[in-house]
Amino acid sequence: MTTTIDLRSDTVTRPSADMRTAMANAVVGDDVMGADPTAIELQEFAAEVLGKEAAIFMPSGTMTNQIALRVHCQPGDEFICDAGCHVYNYEQGAFAQLSQLVAKTVEGERGIIKLEQTQNLIRRENDHFVRTRLVCLENTHNRGGGAIYPFEEVTRVCDWAHANGLITHLDGARLFNAVVETGIPASKWAEHFDSVSICLSKGLGAPVGSVLAGTEDAIYMAKRHRKLFGGGMRQCGVIAAAGLYALKNNVERLADDHAKAKRLAQFIEAKDGLSLTFGKPDTNILFVDIDVEKLGSADDVVARLADKNVIVLAESDARLRALTHLDVTNEQIEQAGQAFAAL
Ligand SMILES: Cc1ncc(COP(=O)(O)O)c(C=O)c1O
Repeated sequence: MTTTIDLRSDTVTRPSADMRTAMANAVVGDDVMGADPTAIELQEFAAEVLGKEAAIFMPSGTMTNQIALRVHCQPGDEFICDAGCHVYNYEQGAFAQLSQLVAKTVEGERGIIKLEQTQNLIRRENDHFVRTRLVCLENTHNRGGGAIYPFEEVTRVCDWAHANGLITHLDGARLFNAVVETGIPASKWAEHFDSVSICLSKGLGAPVGSVLAGTEDAIYMAKRHRKLFGGGMRQCGVIAAAGLYALKNNVERLADDHAKAKRLAQFIEAKDGLSLTFGKPDTNILFVDIDVEKLGSADDVVARLADKNVIVLAESDARLRALTHLDVTNEQIEQAGQAFAAL
């Protein structure tokens, strides 16, 4: 039987047998009433891993990010972020639609904003202006090809933000990829941020779920907003159990995904007409530029790879995206590499 090698995203993973067992055995209760023991256990564990006072389980990374912005900011406030970040580009402008906020975007390099770029961005207090309230960073950076934020730069930007009275939020959907690759613990990255969002449903392999961590006060308000945004869940221990399993068992193995991305990158680099947009991958995300004269458009290339059971996404007319994750084996990476080589 030929199996499909799905490299579209690290969100396509399905729960493993052990994870499903943990889900089946989860002790549950009504979490809106604060009575789901497994959700509570996940929240306490995530808060500990991230070195924060408290944490809250939510259905998605979009919700954890948007509720963080809602909790930290008032209507008419502005937050600073990279122009290619997820919060700005891929959450339907929810900060504007739902919370009446404005974004001040900065062109980061692979999503990395440097301290020098933040100078003069804080607006003076004046009736004409929105109020600059928060800085949002993303690590690792999705559109930056899984780029890891240099730790010193996180420190510099966040120290500057705090010294100027700004709040800091981290979209850490793939923070653990940075943790595994750098050896810097999650709590050390998180120390620089007032709130941190992590996704359990990406490289960590849970079917659903994200966690927002921060102070007791912020998480109390986040819980109120979770209900307001329709994210109050009842016996969610069934999915929290998957998240807990993921956090306890699937962090270290992210290194395998990075190794697989590097291996796939070798095939791509070697192929005439293909090049790696951002060079060798830092983590598990690859962007690939196509010489359309030689190989045809991204849609053509996607179709030809699909004929060989390899699925990737066309990002634009001449760019592809491929991610590695725990549902692709080393052997499948070799097969995918051969499919690229045969284009
Ligand atoms: C960096 C980043 N942040 C947030 C999200 C949103 O996560 P979700 O799809 O769970 O809403 C994603 C999803 O791809 C992401 O890549």
